[in-house]
This record gives sequence, C-alpha cells and structure tokens, in this order.
Amino acid sequence: MDAAQARAEALKILESAARLSADETLGLLGSHVAHNYGLLLKDPIVRGEGPWLYTRGGRKLFDGVAAYSAANLGHGHPLVKAALKAFLDSNAPTVLGRFLPDPWLALFGHRVTALTGFDAFLPANGGVEGPEAAIKLARRWAKRVKKVPGTPQVLFAEHCFHGRTLTVTQMFDPDEKVALEGFGPFAPGFTRVPYNDLAAMEAAITPDTAAILVEPIQGEGGVNVPDPGYVAGLRSLCTRRNVLLILDEVQTGWGRTGELFCWQHGGKAAQPDIMCIGKSISGGFAPVGGNLASRALMDLFEPGSHGSTFGGCPISSAIAVAALRAMELEDLPRQAREKGAFVMQRLKAMAGRAPRIREVRGMGMMFGIELTQDGPDGHDFALKLAAEGLIVKDTHHWVLRFTPPIVATQAELEFALGALERVFCAAPVPA
Ligand SMILES: Cc1ncc(COP(=O)(O)O)c(C=O)c1O
Repeated sequence: MDAAQARAEALKILESAARLSADETLGLLGSHVAHNYGLLLKDPIVRGEGPWLYTRGGRKLFDGVAAYSAANLGHGHPLVKAALKAFLDSNAPTVLGRFLPDPWLALFGHRVTALTGFDAFLPANGGVEGPEAAIKLARRWAKRVKKVPGTPQVLFAEHCFHGRTLTVTQMFDPDEKVALEGFGPFAPGFTRVPYNDLAAMEAAITPDTAAILVEPIQGEGGVNVPDPGYVAGLRSLCTRRNVLLILDEVQTGWGRTGELFCWQHGGKAAQPDIMCIGKSISGGFAPVGGNLASRALMDLFEPGSHGSTFGGCPISSAIAVAALRAMELEDLPRQAREKGAFVMQRLKAMAGRAPRIREVRGMGMMFGIELTQDGPDGHDFALKLAAEGLIVKDTHHWVLRFTPPIVATQAELEFALGALERVFCAAPVPA
C-alpha cells in the first residue's frame, strides 16, 4: 500500500469514530463489546487534555480518577506525545521478537532501574502481569533458593486488589460474589491475612511461605491507608523470616502518594524484594507494566521461563522512557505532596459540613471519601458528581475514589472541589 492510500484510509477510520453519535456508540458497545464494565455516562468521551475530558455532546469533565491513576501526568502529556510522534516518524520497528536485541528496551531498562534503585526490570503489558510474574518468581525462589519443604505459599491481604487474572481473582474478599462466583477452581498456595496487622502476618508465616504480597495503600479496597510503620514492619519481618516482600505499586507508584513509590515513606529500609509497577509508567499512552527486583532474584527467570510478545516492545519502551522523563521534569512526588496537602485540608473541612461524609482519608493525591450508609450509595453520588462535571468512581459501594491527575493546577482542582462541595454540602465553602 502506498503512503497516500494509507493516509486516506487512516483518515477514514478516524472520521468513522468521530462521526459515531452517542446512540451509535452505546449501541455498538452494547452489541459488540463484553459487558464487564458498567458505564457512568451516556455521552462518549472524544478528547482528553491535561485533567480534562471532552464529550461528544460538548461537555468538559474533570477526570478525578485519572484513568485509575494511569493518567497521573494528565491526558496527552506534550513530551510523551512528541516522543511518540518522533518515534513513529523515525520508522523504528514498533514490535520485535524479544529474541532480537532492542535498543529502546535497553534504554527503558536502564532508565527505570536508575530511577527506582532496583537492579533489573521485567517488562510487561499492564498492571496485573506484575503480581502474576512476581508470584512465579517468588515460587521459583522458594523452591530453588529457600528450598521450602512443601507447596510454596503466598500470603496476601484482606480487601486487596491485584487485578483480575485467574491467579489473583481468588484474592477478592469472599463477599465479593460478582468478582468470584463461577471462576474456580483456584490455584493452591495462597493464604488471606488481615491488612495492617503485622502480628497476624507473622503468625501466618510457615516454613513453606515464599512471599508476602500487599499494596502499600489499598486503592480499590477503599483507599485503606495502613499505620505509618506497616510497610517497614513487613520488610523487617520478611528479612527476619526469610520471606520475599512483594509490593504492588501499580496504583500507588509514580508519585501518586507524595513519594515516587509509596514504600519510600518508610525510607530505604522499607524497600521490597519485588515491586510491581504499571499504569502511569507510560503516561497513559500505552499498556505498560512490569516488575523490578535484584539481579540475583530476576536471574531466576532464564530464557523460556517467562515472557510476553508485546512486553517491552520498542514502541512501549519509547513511550515509557518519555513518560519517565516527563515525570522527572514535572517532579510528580513534590506536586502530589504540595497539592495533596491543600486538597486534603479542603476535603476535611468539607467533610465537617457534609452529613453524608463519614471520613476522608488518603495520602498525597490519593483520596477516599467514605460515605455514611444511610442513603444513596457511592454510585448515586458518582452520577451526581458527573452531572456537576467531575468524574469520580465508587468502590465497595460506600467509598468514592478521588485520584486527580497530579499535574492538575490549583484552579483546576478548585473546579473539582467546587463540584464536591455543591453535591455534598448545601452551600459552597466560603473562600
Ligand atoms: C494495586 C493494583 N494492582 C494491579 C492492578 C491491575 O492493573 P491492570 O488493570 O492494568 O491490569 C490494579 C488496577 O487497578 C491495581 O490497582
């Protein structure tokens, strides 16, 4: 196909999407796409810029979920966009068999390890592949290095969320019927332990325990922030009992909580053996994720033991390198600390005047607004807030997750806070 024909066809495709009405979009989603997500809006989103989303019907909405923290840099960050355009114009291969040497992956590995302080990176295509591969690695370590006598065990936390592949599906709380029902049998070797309870975790360790897998703050579980010494306590427990610590930083990573990674609030002493990353590592431009670990641990994966066609492919690597640079230049941890303190103070003041808010909690730019259970639930409030121009997402019925793009300006955050105040309080908070 020559370039002129390719361009004409490409424009036709873009125009086809641009021409779809709201009814046509919903009709096609309903008839041709799996119904594994409910929709909050009927008006399709057609444009994203910074913290804003624009609808087919002409509305401008503040993305208070930041695409589940995948858009920490906002939508369409100019540095990542420019890198992607330049990459495509360079005629670099977008995908390569991993058996071929790939300079973009080499650079990605170099940059991501330099920035995080780990030795080695295992690339993947999204969040859930992190815990999946981490569990494989921990089991192999348990058999080859620790030499456990029986079946390697992984301890995980109540109310956790690590994604939705089969291994981690069993980790949903037993009352989460929709997430669990009909998907068994599940793999053996996993034990549920209360969250934020070091004594319970220690009591659950057996000679077969390979690893402890936790989120440093539970996001989907309701923005559950553990006690300050919890993660460092897990680290010393794991060291003392010869167990690996796996921290899932897929949601909390890349500045969201006010440090580059949430475990860093506990200092160097809280560093995990394996860290799962995803979401914002690509600036929201591509599905990218993976794991970081020591060289010795990562070398338990030899050729043939793990892999993925697209994991770390040139286009993903180029995008991620650009997003890492954008994150460095934007200093997202500092922005999250500064703006987070301002937003938290405003949310707490609002909560004092809002009869339906039971508690506001969080860290950095990660907030959970817990509702009292005596009226409309979180989904109803998410609908009301969307009508006011703010997108937030309910979790576990009674908690609203508010995780704005970290780059949102104070004025933009004021817009979001104004919507929350209009919905939760009778009158806006005086300036
Ligand atoms: C802590 C955590 N781990 C893993 C995942 C799974 O990520 P993905 O949906 O990209 O597979 C998520 C997604 O929300 C998450 O919050």
